[in-house]
Amino acid sequence: MLTLEHIDSISKEFSSKLDQANDLKSLEQIRIEFLGKKGKITLLLRGLGDVPQEERSSFGQKINQLKNQSENLFKDKAASLSSEESKKPAGDWSLPGLRPSVGRLHPLTQTVNEILDIFKRMGFEAIDGREVETEFYNFTALNIPLDHPSRDAFDTFYTPHGNLLRSQTSTVQIRMMENHKPPFKIVAPGRVYRPDTVDATHSFMFHQIEGLLIDEKTTFSDLKGVLSFFLKELYGANTEIRFRPHFFPFTEPSVEVDMKFSSKKGKEDWIEILGAGCVHPNVLESAGISSKKYQGFAFGLGVERMTMLKYGINDIRHFFENDIRFLNQF
Ligand code: PHE
Repeated sequence: MLTLEHIDSISKEFSSKLDQANDLKSLEQIRIEFLGKKGKITLLLRGLGDVPQEERSSFGQKINQLKNQSENLFKDKAASLSSEESKKPAGDWSLPGLRPSVGRLHPLTQTVNEILDIFKRMGFEAIDGREVETEFYNFTALNIPLDHPSRDAFDTFYTPHGNLLRSQTSTVQIRMMENHKPPFKIVAPGRVYRPDTVDATHSFMFHQIEGLLIDEKTTFSDLKGVLSFFLKELYGANTEIRFRPHFFPFTEPSVEVDMKFSSKKGKEDWIEILGAGCVHPNVLESAGISSKKYQGFAFGLGVERMTMLKYGINDIRHFFENDIRFLNQF
């Protein structure tokens, strides 16, 4: 027969199970066990028939109270568990995040920008040139004779239609002089191509910066002054340089400029860093500028070589391999 103790014990059992439930799945089990169609609390009402008439209504009230109370407790628990579950992070929030990797300029681009900056401060304007050229701009107009070895098909990349990939940025000198009236001073960065076998110091493609100044009264000492200032700005005031006589078909007189550098082992040596000279009268005339009225000077430097010296890089191939471990250091 139904007793008050029995009602009480079911009430306690329900409370303690509800307390222990820690996810929505086990909560549903408890709902079925106590409040479902055949649940322990639901069945209590059916036992009312056995209770003596005079106690039936107080028993009924008790059971209904328990039923309502249990349903409320159940709802509260369900609400708190589901809000807890929705707050649970999808992963471990204490793990360090993934930093987005921010790109940067390639070391060669950085060097080009730095060099152009120095020349801009001296009033030079930076201009662009083309990479596919004709024999005229790469050779003839630069006073390079037909029998010069660099005109050989094996020493230059020719296109099927007889054009070529420029082997030097000096082509820019001619295009500038053809289209502008002096005075002017320009620097022109860009790629050049030579069919060299790739090794630690050679590449079939590399970068040069050409410089050209044309005016009515220029001297070789202007050239020396500009280049000395430039190299000391780039490599530091104590940089030692020397001008060594050399030959280029398109300048006269011509020099190569060497810089003193000490290797990792501490040995000091001179290394050639650029070519320069006073613009040859033939070059001025072939570009339509009077060599009686105007003179000037030109220079060409290799960007890879300059960058390697700046940072102590020992292999030119690092620049072109896109290895992030190398690039991240600049
Ligand atoms: N064009 C030359 C080279 O590639 C460098 C140079 C430029 C020399 C201008 C003199 C004047 O070696």
